[in-house]
Amino acid sequence: MMIKTQEYIQSEKEKFVSELLDLLKIPSISADPAFKNNVMNCAERLAEKLREIGIEKVESCQTAGYPIVYGEKLINPNLPTVLVYGHYDVQPADPIELWASPPFEPVIKKTEIHPEGAIFARGACDDKGQMFMHVKAVEAMLKANELPCNVKFMIEGEEEVGSENLGIFVKNNKEKLNADIILVSDTGMLANDTPSVTTGLRGLSYVEVEVTGPNRDLHSGLYGGCVANPINVLAQMIASLHDENGKITIPGFYDKVVELSDEERAEMAKAPFSHEEYCKALDLKDVMGEAGYSTPERGSIRPTLDVNGIWGGYTGEGAKTVIASKAYAKISMRLVPDQDPEEITLLFKNHFEAITPNGVRVVVKPHHGGEAAVTPIDSVGYKAASLAYEKAFGKKPIPVRSGGSIPIVAMFEKELGLKTILMGFGLNSDAIHSPNEHYGLFNFYKGIETIPYFYHFFTELNAK
Ligand code: BES
Ligand code: MN
Ligand code: MN
Repeated sequence: MMIKTQEYIQSEKEKFVSELLDLLKIPSISADPAFKNNVMNCAERLAEKLREIGIEKVESCQTAGYPIVYGEKLINPNLPTVLVYGHYDVQPADPIELWASPPFEPVIKKTEIHPEGAIFARGACDDKGQMFMHVKAVEAMLKANELPCNVKFMIEGEEEVGSENLGIFVKNNKEKLNADIILVSDTGMLANDTPSVTTGLRGLSYVEVEVTGPNRDLHSGLYGGCVANPINVLAQMIASLHDENGKITIPGFYDKVVELSDEERAEMAKAPFSHEEYCKALDLKDVMGEAGYSTPERGSIRPTLDVNGIWGGYTGEGAKTVIASKAYAKISMRLVPDQDPEEITLLFKNHFEAITPNGVRVVVKPHHGGEAAVTPIDSVGYKAASLAYEKAFGKKPIPVRSGGSIPIVAMFEKELGLKTILMGFGLNSDAIHSPNEHYGLFNFYKGIETIPYFYHFFTELNAK
């Protein structure tokens, strides 16, 4: 099965990598308007790549933000259709000084985990490297004349900033996006010798808070001890959001959380996990989290609340004695089924306002959010993915719920009625969103090899 496709992949490996390196040289940072031209260029380059391999009706669909690159190859209306989703935008590269090589000048280096080499660049894993595997896998199937079903591509440029315009695009193009399954490589797997398929994503609620004390910055000697210090107050308010058991104290926060059965938890616990290796990789003496749950559980089936950034007052060289007028924090809450992001944001806002002491004023500003998603393992899509991994890795993949979020996945289900299969090939150690992001060559190639098998099994299982 797929023999010519696999032969083509083996013969073109080097070309595939050099093409990916070209895409990685474009700093397509969606969050920073200074990179607007680069993001637009990246969309154009990607559209060209799709045209080059024989994808039809390729267009850069304009939105209120960055374009969505769409294209299709429809071979027979009676066959299933796979809709591939990915993103060509990347996170900002800062702090740049912590990169061993410039983030947009990709280099290949060997590491302990990637003895065959890994590509170091922003977006190498999240998501250009993973998204591009799909382009090359489809190229191989087309070149080998072995594409077994229809395929559509929908690659966006605003995933890292909340996918607001993709939501609108999906609502307005239901006919065009008609398909049987959505296929995404934008997550990870357990290890290169332990394949896994992501069966869940957490949702997200994200807020920014502003605490205002006195109407101007004050001398900390003349006023210290007499007025509320917004930074002290903010720190206290944030600290009070967890109790001594690591539970979040916002009233109602856990009300809709779906608890897993003991059987499901036992099943999850079968996935390999080493506490020692986990701590060692992060230079930690111990882990910390909600009482009563394991580290893998805390990072996937349990909701969380984390400060992502906090600032205020004087942070320059030396000491300045000052009580700041304002303090700020950005706070994310990772959600699980069936928590509603809007409801959680409201619960947060009400609680945060309620615990505000009289000496300060508080403003809570909501950012983007999204719902959690789960893929049932008894679905045709999951079975096809499982068979594909088994064929490519010689091992059955383990189903794993991830802690990350791809808010658009729940939206696909709501608007298009479609399930998403998350065939991620990244590793947690690939440093996505961090300095020195990288993606293993093994992972890049293995992904390109595995994807055609998914098309094969998905088509076969649908015909039955
Ligand atoms: N690809 C990631 C999400 C991811 C990574 C899920 C690894 C599972 C495993 C995606 O690009 C991302 O970064 N999502 C954001 C949310 C988004 C709204 C900015 C996240 O999870 O923080
Ligand atoms: Mn991503
Ligand atoms: Mn990301």
